[in-house]
Amino acid sequence: MAEVVIVSSQEAAGEIYAAAAAALIARKPDAVLGLATGSTPLPAYAALLRRGLDLSRVRGFALDEYVGLPPGHPESYRAVITREVVEPLGLTPALVRVPGDDGGLLETAGERYERDIVAAGGVDLQILGIGRTGHIGFNEPGSSFGSLTRVKTLTSHTRADNARFFDSPDDVPTHCLTQGLGTILRARHLVLLAFGASKAPAIAAAVEGPLTASAPGSAVQLHPHVTVVVDEDAAAGLANADYYRYAWDNRLAWETP
Ligand code: PGA
Repeated sequence: MAEVVIVSSQEAAGEIYAAAAAALIARKPDAVLGLATGSTPLPAYAALLRRGLDLSRVRGFALDEYVGLPPGHPESYRAVITREVVEPLGLTPALVRVPGDDGGLLETAGERYERDIVAAGGVDLQILGIGRTGHIGFNEPGSSFGSLTRVKTLTSHTRADNARFFDSPDDVPTHCLTQGLGTILRARHLVLLAFGASKAPAIAAAVEGPLTASAPGSAVQLHPHVTVVVDEDAAAGLANADYYRYAWDNRLAWETP
């Protein structure tokens, strides 16, 4: 079962991620972080920043990227990761990869990305948000639990959700490159964050629903080391919330997420 932590604030959620990242980086200064975009990870990056660690040797792999934006577009995930993660946290730009950023053919970008993740020794700590459609990465409903990095078509829901970052909803790309559910499941530790009532159904389906490609987040149930960190609103659909609170309040001293 995933460990579910229900927190009172996004800051508290960020601290849980930052504690896991800091412990990892202390024992492995060139750790491989899986990076995510969107609003959800921002408190986690802010908490990591507050720790003031030297992250110059840390390597990074982004979960996903739009297809079809001009190079350097401010909403490309390369640009977002640079602006929100690499620069503020002091990562070394050359050590951070985003799918499709190596200039090769789009058709084979996924295979190259997978090779690069394997060559780096795999992702140690993967931060995840979840979409209202239940996607993790851009693995929309129907994605295979065995899927690897590949081109996907975004759902109209996801395009509408992301329209806030663009001048017009029509400007949101229709396609993306995303790590697959199989890629995500290979990371050693997953930290899935969700905030707000709009995420409650997706979190309930991911954590307590049946394993199904229709709820791609449910893939996390297959992973041996998952920490799901949610605020009260995002936890609202969890049947076993009281048990998660009890388990967290009674965790043993050596049990860290
Ligand atoms: P959000 O996106 O953090 O901006 O809500 C999450 C996601 O789509 O995975």
